[in-house]
Amino acid sequence: MFAFLLAVGILIPSALGQFPCPNAIDILPCHCTADGEDIDMDCSNINVVDQIEHAFMADMPFTAFRKLTIARDLDQNAVPIESLGDRVFGDATFREVVISNSYLSDIGNNVFEKSFSTLESLTLSHGLLNRYNFATLNLFNQLTHLDMSHNRLSFVSDIISNSLQLIDLSWNGGFFYSPELLVGAPGLTHIYLQNIDMHDLTPLMFAAQGHLDTLDLAGNFVHMMPSDGLWFPNDTVTNVVLDNNFVLDLSIEFIFGTSNKLSLSMRNNSLSDFTAEIWQPVLEKVSGNTKSRIVLGETNIQCGCNIAWLVTSTKYMRVFDSTNQCADGSLFSDLDPDSFAHCP
Ligand SMILES: *[C@@H]1O[C@H](CO)[C@@H](O)[C@H](O)[C@H]1NC(C)=O
Ligand SMILES: *[C@@H]1O[C@H](CO)[C@@H](O)[C@H](O)[C@H]1NC(C)=O
Repeated sequence: MFAFLLAVGILIPSALGQFPCPNAIDILPCHCTADGEDIDMDCSNINVVDQIEHAFMADMPFTAFRKLTIARDLDQNAVPIESLGDRVFGDATFREVVISNSYLSDIGNNVFEKSFSTLESLTLSHGLLNRYNFATLNLFNQLTHLDMSHNRLSFVSDIISNSLQLIDLSWNGGFFYSPELLVGAPGLTHIYLQNIDMHDLTPLMFAAQGHLDTLDLAGNFVHMMPSDGLWFPNDTVTNVVLDNNFVLDLSIEFIFGTSNKLSLSMRNNSLSDFTAEIWQPVLEKVSGNTKSRIVLGETNIQCGCNIAWLVTSTKYMRVFDSTNQCADGSLFSDLDPDSFAHCP
């Protein structure tokens, strides 16, 4: 018996595949790897979508996979799939799915229905997706990570999920959404909405996010930060990114309810003033923690007596980033507090 196994193993190892994977030849050009009980399927080399369906029709010792990958590096040709129909993965279930750098524009409403109770992480990025059935998200009761960045989504319906922790909808220019977009996902810790053509920040849009750590709104068209635009309910937020917007106007309490430790980054905006009325409450809240940072980079702020209140406070200046520049290019951190002594 032992000799027989040995002989088979030596003679046709590739035909046998590697238990618990299916027979390697049956699933080509997909390939399967196993690490203990974790079985991964990689179909990144397919030429036509039928090859996926064919692979998943093979005899499988196990249909519970850890990870499905259909992805190529961005400097390679995109994976030539345009649509995924509902039955393409047969009975297979997945905990993690990564489909990236493809021509995928259409995905069946129930493609991953077998994975409703297993899927933890879904990445459908760098494709041409115009729509996705977000209404089924709540059926994935283990789903914590959803990355749909770099697509062409034109509409995102309100997200309902108790498990979701991270959502990335970045680089989908101009999709429609309601201000209640994320109200039904109270477990979110990380929200990425870079480059979505957001023009207006609706007050209280993040008011349901009692676990939020990071909010990234870089690369949008926000000109004006209204009161309560960044209102957070539970003092958990430590990282807010507003780089590459057009922020000029700030209202009192435009940001409220962050953690005492906050990194607020507003590089490359249009700030032309830094008034105590608006900023002192923010600095009071966060400057007790020396790890906090207010990052503005180059600004249009005239550094005269208007900022004496800031420059003469060592506590505030400790968290005011050392790269922040006045309109004339001088660094705030180089300003001599003594030279503001004459200010009223
Ligand atoms: C507030 O945050 C704490 C963790 O800092 C968390 O345990 C609690 O559930 C949160 N409350 C709400 C209402 O989200
Ligand atoms: C500044 O922001 C604008 C608008 O988002 C962007 O087009 C530009 O590339 C940014 N500049 C830098 C240096 O990042």
